[in-house]
Amino acid sequence: MKVTVFGSGYVGLVTGACLADVGNNVVCVDIDQGKIDRLNAGEVPIHEPGLDDLIASNMAAGRLKFTTDIDLGVAHGLFQFIAVGTPPDEDGSADLQYVLAVANSIGERMNDYRVVINKSTVPVGTADKVRAKVQAALDQRGSTLQFDVVSNPEFLKEGAAIEDFMKPDRVVIGTDNPRTTELLRALYAPFNRNHDRLVCMDIRSAELTKYAANAMLATKISFMNELANLAEKLGADIENVRLGIGSDPRIGYHFIYPGCGYGGSCFPKDVKALERTARDVGYEAQLLQAVEGVNDRQKTRLFDKINRHFGGNLQGKTVAVWGLAFKPNTDDMREASSRTLMEALWQAGAKVQAHDPVAMEETRRIYGERSDLTLCDTPMAAIQGADALAIVTEWKVFRSPDFDALKAALKQPVIFDGRNLYDPEQMERMGITYHGIGRGR
Ligand code: UGA
Repeated sequence: MKVTVFGSGYVGLVTGACLADVGNNVVCVDIDQGKIDRLNAGEVPIHEPGLDDLIASNMAAGRLKFTTDIDLGVAHGLFQFIAVGTPPDEDGSADLQYVLAVANSIGERMNDYRVVINKSTVPVGTADKVRAKVQAALDQRGSTLQFDVVSNPEFLKEGAAIEDFMKPDRVVIGTDNPRTTELLRALYAPFNRNHDRLVCMDIRSAELTKYAANAMLATKISFMNELANLAEKLGADIENVRLGIGSDPRIGYHFIYPGCGYGGSCFPKDVKALERTARDVGYEAQLLQAVEGVNDRQKTRLFDKINRHFGGNLQGKTVAVWGLAFKPNTDDMREASSRTLMEALWQAGAKVQAHDPVAMEETRRIYGERSDLTLCDTPMAAIQGADALAIVTEWKVFRSPDFDALKAALKQPVIFDGRNLYDPEQMERMGITYHGIGRGR
């Protein structure tokens, strides 16, 4: 089948590469010439396990092409995926200008029936706007060509996106035309084996499903972080509480890890956007506001603990930071807790020595050269001569350090662990002062 994907960002690249890999003929279109040149030269602009190989093999097989040619893109695919960015406006609502520009391009150029598929995370009601945009462009040309609009949100996790696309929990299809559902069913058939994973519904419900999923996951995290803060005050250990509640299958063990806050390009943006959507229709989403508020506060917890430990004076102190990416297996630092921590430390006059297995380049890009930031090649180099260690991202390599070497390298053996990687009792036995999250025992 012929597929066009507009937007060669994270979602577009994964969608394009995976659809090509099962034999479709895919054209990816992006307006950024530099990005397309790099992709055509075999350079993948994002860090995602498995993606480089997938793109390279499908390009070599002639099933995956990258271009800035919009005419070619619209002429190519029966399926026209819109996977361009929807950055948040200042007020938290998603900026739809790029999505609607693609819709306009499709309406201006199409010369046959097209299925226009919203893959970007967009507010409820966007499919109607896309439909109106395509229709207006067709009307302008005096064309009576037919098209359908589909909401097909993505549920990819960074770091596991290929696996999530190839073996989805579910594929949500929102349409108002049963014929379109059948076309999408055929497109997704290679990923829909053993049992039916397609969940078909009306367009608005599909649009809301995406926000509901992310808001629910963010709520689980903020709930646990709230309980963790309470556990500290009550002399309880949240890790025991986590195991105690997770064993109830109605609650489950997934996504109830307390920490120093959620980040990334999705949860913070989507919770805000849903809150905003609610406000637009006259509903105050109190729970969502609280989820966001708890998370904002949680991102400052590590700094507060460090500041308190040093009696409110961090001037001239050096703090080692392990983990800069918003989560392991990515170099993405959007809304990362490490940024909140480092910026607060700098503000207080402290220096940072940081290490991350893959996000150091990204850190350099964001912060440039600064005298109060040293990026170190190894975790051990980052703690050399530091006053304390703060752990922000739970990369595997931080799980079992040489604690004797760690004690020797730090000026004082003190760890602020934002991801609860270590056993407090073991730390005590080793003479390391240990501050986790929610570990009040
Ligand atoms: C998230 C969703 O998990 C995906 O299903 C969704 O498709 C995606 O957003 C999206 O909308 O595109 P992602 O942002 O890649 O995926 O990251 P997650 O793995 O969900 O982690 C988000 C944040 O929550 C991280 O900062 C992580 O450290 C934090 N987290 C996660 C916790 O603090 N505790 C947990 O128990 C789990």
